[in-house]
Amino acid sequence: MEKDDFFEDLDNTSNIGDVIKESEEQLRQTRELREREKKMIREERRRRMIEETKREKKTEGEEAEPLPPVHGRHKKKNGIDDDVIISLNGVGKSYIKGVPTLEDVNIKIKKGEFVFIVGDSGAGKSTLIRLLLRELKPTTGTITVNGMRVDKIRNGKIPKLRRSMGVVFQDFKLLKDRNVYENVAFAQRIIQTPIREMKRNVPNMLAMVGLAGKYKAKTTELSGGEQQRVAIARALVNEPPILICDEPTGNLDPKNTVEIMNLLDRINKNGTTVVVVTHNDKIVNDMQKRVITIKNGVVVSDEEMGVYLDEDN
Ligand SMILES: Nc1ncnc2c1ncn2[C@@H]1O[C@H](COP(=O)(O)OP(=O)(O)OP(=O)(O)O)[C@@H](O)[C@H]1O
Ligand SMILES: [Mg+2]
Repeated sequence: MEKDDFFEDLDNTSNIGDVIKESEEQLRQTRELREREKKMIREERRRRMIEETKREKKTEGEEAEPLPPVHGRHKKKNGIDDDVIISLNGVGKSYIKGVPTLEDVNIKIKKGEFVFIVGDSGAGKSTLIRLLLRELKPTTGTITVNGMRVDKIRNGKIPKLRRSMGVVFQDFKLLKDRNVYENVAFAQRIIQTPIREMKRNVPNMLAMVGLAGKYKAKTTELSGGEQQRVAIARALVNEPPILICDEPTGNLDPKNTVEIMNLLDRINKNGTTVVVVTHNDKIVNDMQKRVITIKNGVVVSDEEMGVYLDEDN
């Protein structure tokens, strides 16, 4: 635009050649100056973003520390103990008005716990997970995750909430046209992790899930168990304090199922709170963890070292 106006003004000028040269030089200098300013603004924004990410990571990391000693424990503002990382209080959810899918769910999960959530198909397990992730809002009750009130959080804070939970699904949800490394690095890119940190974190995480040697493989070239390991690495690479798995072994054979469950157990022993939704009664009975059973949207049992109560057998 500026240049067009400028040429229009020149129509009546006699010494056109000199004026053009001079003015083009001025234009060039102005553009250079603007470019430099823009670059400085971009760099400043990037620097701030990195600082913010580091600060948030530090805060999240601090929250993920092991349980505080009992004597030092104090209550938070919203009345929830510091060592409780997930809390549902009187939670109900109706997709259709007056038809509750979940009813009066009261669950407290402490930092560092390993919890199975079991129940028949349609019981409301995935609905419960979607409420934690704030993919859905509860119809009644309050939900707190990692100190955040999920039921009344502002939209702008949802990414922060979701960064506190790594999520793994039955169908892996990997990027099919990308290799193993890129699938895990993708999660780091979203939170704008500096390249140097990413180059350290991704291989570390792949080694942790036993896939160090396969970082270049396309995900379509992997077995089901290996694909689920990539999904777990991706869920954990940003170091969330909580790992949530919805039927993580639903597509796996018994051998891979045991291996993935052992991996989840190891992740839990390293300090991550792990919540696993499953139908697999054998695994639940073998692992001797806390088991919460949901039936028709109601918690019907919640037991330490529980078993899968299957009324059909
Ligand atoms: N978006 C939706 N709209 C209406 N009803 C829904 C919706 N999503 C789930 N439901 C219903 O809510 C109930 C619970 O579904 P949910 O997916 O939570 O069950 P689930 O326990 O995870 O089952 P599964 O073990 O089969 O995965 C079901 O009756 C389902 O049909
Ligand atoms: Mg489900």
